[in-house]
Amino acid sequence: MLRGLTSLVLGAAMMFESWGYMMPHQDPTDMLILVNKDHKAPAIPVSLVKPDVPPTRDVFSENIYMRPEAAHALEDMFDAAAKEGLTLYATSGFRSYATQKAIFDRKLKKMSEKKANEIVAKPGYSEHQSGLTMDIEGKTTLNTGLTYEFGESPEGLWVKENCHTFGFIIRYPEDKTDITGYTYEPWHLRYVGTDAAKVIYEQDATLEEYLRMLRSSRIQQMKGEEP
Ligand code: DAL
Ligand code: ZN
Repeated sequence: MLRGLTSLVLGAAMMFESWGYMMPHQDPTDMLILVNKDHKAPAIPVSLVKPDVPPTRDVFSENIYMRPEAAHALEDMFDAAAKEGLTLYATSGFRSYATQKAIFDRKLKKMSEKKANEIVAKPGYSEHQSGLTMDIEGKTTLNTGLTYEFGESPEGLWVKENCHTFGFIIRYPEDKTDITGYTYEPWHLRYVGTDAAKVIYEQDATLEEYLRMLRSSRIQQMKGEEP
């Protein structure tokens, strides 16, 4: 009976594995929630707070809400950067479906849908709808917008090397666009918690790769093998 049950669990786990990293029913409160071109953002509202950090511009001050755990981690990271003489600003946090649609539609006026979707997520598919993401800028490149220059600036370089200690990852790295589906965004930080962020940083992985590693090691554990 027990063996039958174990096989059933294993079978189900392997079915998930064979689907790659598909997770049909994701918990919207899970900080490891996967949102990408194949996985919709949670439609259920999550609780949000405004982090006590400076917005890039006053008009952005209502655009920077996040889930509480992510907001507190962002405050800690901005404080730590400030201790190193680096000033960070928050540009865009939680977005509703309607906001993401407006951003995507604006892009569509300038380029094809395919090109637009390499830069901006379609409404319903943006991590910004999870409340776990923040686009940030730094004093050195202030007023240039969300640009690649941020990644080369002292603030961007510091964030790249240190954000994992606060539980954040650079969600769309330069050399992983084939996995993430999006072009390089040195400004787009995703909160995943410190444990996951450390592994992702050390392994130079994406969230997709990390979740696949996690699942595969869980399956091995269920099978009684060493991961
Ligand atoms: N720029 C990212 C992919 C977004 O629109 O969510
Ligand atoms: Zn972003």
